[in-house]
Amino acid sequence: MRCRIVGAPVQDGAGRMGCEMGPSALRTAGLVGAIAELGHEVVDMGTVERAMVRPAVHGNLALKALPEIVAWTEALTDAAYRASADAMPIFLGGDHSISAGTLSGIARRAAELGRPLFVLWLDAHPDFHTLDSTTSGNLHGVPLAYASGQPGFDGLFPDLPVRVDPRRVCAFGLRSVDPAERRALTAAGVTVHDMRVIDEHGAAPLMRDFIARVAAEGGLLHVSLDVDFLDPAIAPAVGTTVPGGATFREAHLVMEMLSDSGLVSSLDLVELNPFLDERGRTATLLVDLVASLMGRRIMDRPTRSF
Ligand code: ARG
Ligand code: MN
Ligand code: MN
Repeated sequence: MRCRIVGAPVQDGAGRMGCEMGPSALRTAGLVGAIAELGHEVVDMGTVERAMVRPAVHGNLALKALPEIVAWTEALTDAAYRASADAMPIFLGGDHSISAGTLSGIARRAAELGRPLFVLWLDAHPDFHTLDSTTSGNLHGVPLAYASGQPGFDGLFPDLPVRVDPRRVCAFGLRSVDPAERRALTAAGVTVHDMRVIDEHGAAPLMRDFIARVAAEGGLLHVSLDVDFLDPAIAPAVGTTVPGGATFREAHLVMEMLSDSGLVSSLDLVELNPFLDERGRTATLLVDLVASLMGRRIMDRPTRSF
């Protein structure tokens, strides 16, 4: 596999500062070496620069840093489209607002390749607010709604070249969903495997079904991994901790099953706030999860396709 590392040091979408240091912490934790060690070709393409900020106003006065996030989305859409030309891009956030751009750029790439794009959203939150429905005003709460063509972004966020079909999105690990998001997710047809469903059925059968769907349609698969998908006890370096997250073993299993599928074509690592970490343990865990996704195994097992 050929990988491209793309730094996206965005923090204006989160409620507190620190995610700007995310790419640096992931590099310090040894991300590039961990991928290369597994036999992949990996190039660190450096850091995306924000586009020029233009004034942007909206009736929702709670919105924070709208012009900045719009400018980042412009730059990241373009970077994601280019980085996915001939390789698997790994985007290092940055808060989750980076996915407004990465998803939009990847969706354009998939459409040009004539492949349906699926999205696995590993997160405590669906980030499915519109500019009108968010009450916190933190724009890391809107990227999935924007990229899947929900209304109300027109004229402010960049026009979507191609939208992500929300019926090809699986939100996995949710345990904090606002009422407006709940309604919108259902109406849009997003598959939601919330923590209750995972507790009841187990992560593996749910993942197996989703992977089978992607494979059956010959799809590309974008994985968006928010640190708060993980339980705060093992991943403290995030501003939006929610109790009851994925365990160490569940998270590795998800990554290993994705690896076996051979379907993952792009990845976001988001919401790491190194200011909140404990001696780099969250950054190190993310690197180990990426290694599982890229083929690290406890024992050799044959690659299995579903
Ligand atoms: N739904 C909440 C909000 O809109 C939380 C969003 C958390 N999003 C994230 N990317 N951490 O403020
Ligand atoms: Mn998120
Ligand atoms: Mn989250």
